Amino acid sequence: MGERTEVRFEVNGREVAVKTWPMGRLLDVLRTEVGLTGTKEGCGEGECGACSVLVDGVLVNACLVPVVQVAGCSVQTVEGLAEDAAVEPLRQAFVRANGAQCGICTPGMLMATVALLREEARPSDARIREALGGNLCRCTGYVRIVQAVREAAAEMAGARADAEVEG
Ligand code: FES
Ligand code: FES
Repeated sequence: MGERTEVRFEVNGREVAVKTWPMGRLLDVLRTEVGLTGTKEGCGEGECGACSVLVDGVLVNACLVPVVQVAGCSVQTVEGLAEDAAVEPLRQAFVRANGAQCGICTPGMLMATVALLREEARPSDARIREALGGNLCRCTGYVRIVQAVREAAAEMAGARADAEVEG
C-alpha cells in the first residue's frame, strides 16, 4: 500500500487533510478518517452503488476510487445533501413513497438521483430506471424509488420555475 501520505480534498464544501495510504479506498477514508458514515459499503466491488458519491460532480463508486485520485477534488456525500435545501423535496419524497426500507442502498440512490436531476430536470421513468441501473436495491422492488424520484423531480422543477418568475 506504500507509505502514509497527506491527501487534501474538499468534502461537502469543507477542506479535509487526511494522513493515509494513497491507494486506500475513498470509501474507507470517508467513513473512518473523515467520520462520514452515511456512505455505505455493499459489495465492495463496484457492483451495487451503495457507496456512490460525487467527485467534482461526477457519480463514482467510492469503493473503487483510491483516495489519492481525489486530491484537490470536491467530494459530495449524502451528508452534504442535508445542508442543501434544494434537494429537501427528494429526501421527503423517499420517505413519503417508502423508497427506503433497510436503507443500505438509499444514500447511493440519493446521490445517483442528484446526479441525474442535475442533468435532466424532468426525466421519464425509463430514464430514472436507467440512471439508477448501477444502484441495486434488494428491498423495495424499485417501483417506490422511481415514484419518489418522479415526485421529487416535479417538485424541484416547480420550485425552480417559481423562483425564476419571482426573480
Ligand atoms: Fe461500492 Fe458496492 S460497495 S459498488
Ligand atoms: Fe434495502 Fe434498498 S432499501 S437495499
